[in-house]
Amino acid sequence: MNKVCIIGCGMIAQSAHIPAYKHWSDDFEIVAVCDAFEASAKKVAEEHGIPNYYSDAETMLKEMQPDVVSICTPNMSHKEFAMLALSYGANVLCEKPLAFSYADACEMFEYAEKQGKLLMACQSIRFLPERLAAKELIDAGKVGDVYYAELSRVRRRGIPTWGKFHLKEYSGGGALIDIGVHGFDSALWLMGNPKPRSVSATMSKVHADEIGSAKSSGALKGGVDTSKFNPDEMNVESFAGGQVTFENGAVLSFKISWAANLREENNIVLAGKESGVDIEQKKIYTGEDGVSELEVGPSGFADEPFYGHFCLIKNVAEVLKGNAEPFVKPQETIHTTAILEAAYLSAAENRTVMIEELLR
Ligand SMILES: NC(=O)c1ccc[n+]([C@@H]2O[C@H](COP(=O)([O-])OP(=O)(O)OC[C@H]3O[C@@H](n4cnc5c(N)ncnc54)[C@H](O)[C@@H]3O)[C@@H](O)[C@H]2O)c1
Repeated sequence: MNKVCIIGCGMIAQSAHIPAYKHWSDDFEIVAVCDAFEASAKKVAEEHGIPNYYSDAETMLKEMQPDVVSICTPNMSHKEFAMLALSYGANVLCEKPLAFSYADACEMFEYAEKQGKLLMACQSIRFLPERLAAKELIDAGKVGDVYYAELSRVRRRGIPTWGKFHLKEYSGGGALIDIGVHGFDSALWLMGNPKPRSVSATMSKVHADEIGSAKSSGALKGGVDTSKFNPDEMNVESFAGGQVTFENGAVLSFKISWAANLREENNIVLAGKESGVDIEQKKIYTGEDGVSELEVGPSGFADEPFYGHFCLIKNVAEVLKGNAEPFVKPQETIHTTAILEAAYLSAAENRTVMIEELLR
C-alpha cells in the first residue's frame, strides 16, 4: 500500500487526484493533504475522510514519510515542491506544467534519477480515447513517419475563472502553458517524440473582459471558487500561435487559446508517409481519395471528467510494482518544456528561437 500526500487542495486535487487515488484503494491510501490556507486543507481532509492536514508541505513530508506525493499547487511552485518531495524519498506526480525551462526540467529528472524515484508530469489528456486510438494506429506503422502536424486547442471563451491562472507571477504564462502544454505533450507523443529544433510564436491578450462559464474554462467538477477576476489584472496571453520545427524535418503548427473568435477545437492532425489522421474528426486519409474511420474505443471512466488522472494514477501504481513503464516519459516532458520556453522567448523577442539556445 502506497501512502499518498497531496500538496495543494484546489480544483484539480478535489476533482481529479483525490477521487482517483480513492478509486485505486488497493494501491493507495491518502494519509494527508496540505494547503497554504489551513482552512482549505482542513475542509478537504474532513470532506474526504483523510486523517491529517497541514499548512506546511515540509512538515507534512517529514511527519508522514509518503511513498507518493501529488503536486496540485499553482504552476510557479511545481519545481520547488517536486524537488522537496523527492528529497524526502517520495515518488512524485506533478501537475502540468512540470517546469518552465528546459534546464529546470532536466535538473528535476536528473535529481529524480539520483534519488531512484519516479517523477511524472500529469499529462492526463493523452488518455482521450481518440488520441489513444491514433497512437495505436501510429504504433502499428499505419501512418508512417509524420512530416507535418497541426495542433488546435481553441476555447472560444474559456479563461479560467478561479485560482491564479491569469497572473504570470503564479502561472508563468497563460493559455500556452495552461492548455498548450497538454497539446504539445500529446502531439510529441503521437509523433514519436522527435527532438525540437526551433520555435516561432506570436501571442496576444484578447477578450480578458469576456470571461465565459466555469465549465468552458475547464473546471469540470466542483471544488472551485468561480468568482470572476478583475480583467485589468490579467497579465498573461489568452492566445498563442506559431510553428515548431524538428530535427527530423517535421513541422508542427499550433494555435492555442483561452479565448478567440475561432471554432472550438481540441484537435491534432497528423500527416504521415502512409496516411494522415484527423483525430477530432476520427478520419484517416490515404492515397488519392481514401477516407476511413478511426476506430475509437470507449473511455475507461466515462462518468469522470478527469478520467485521464484515473489512468495515470493506475500507471503510477503499476510502475511502482515494476509492472509498467511510466506512461509519460522524462524525455517527452523535457522536449515539451523546451518548446514552451522557446515559444515565450520567441514571442517576447519577435524572432525564431533555436532550441540549442536554451542549453546555454
Ligand atoms: N492535468 C489537468 O488536466 C489539469 C487541470 C486543471 C489544473 N491543472 C493544474 O493543477 C494545478 C492547480 O490548479 P487548480 O485548478 O487546482 O488551482 P486552484 O487554485 O484551484 O488550487 C491550487 C491550490 O494550491 C494552494 N496553494 C498555493 N500555494 C501553495 C503552497 N505554497 N503550499 C500549499 N498549497 C498552496 C492554493 O491555496 C489552492 O488551494 C495547476 O498547476 C494547473 O495547471 C491540471
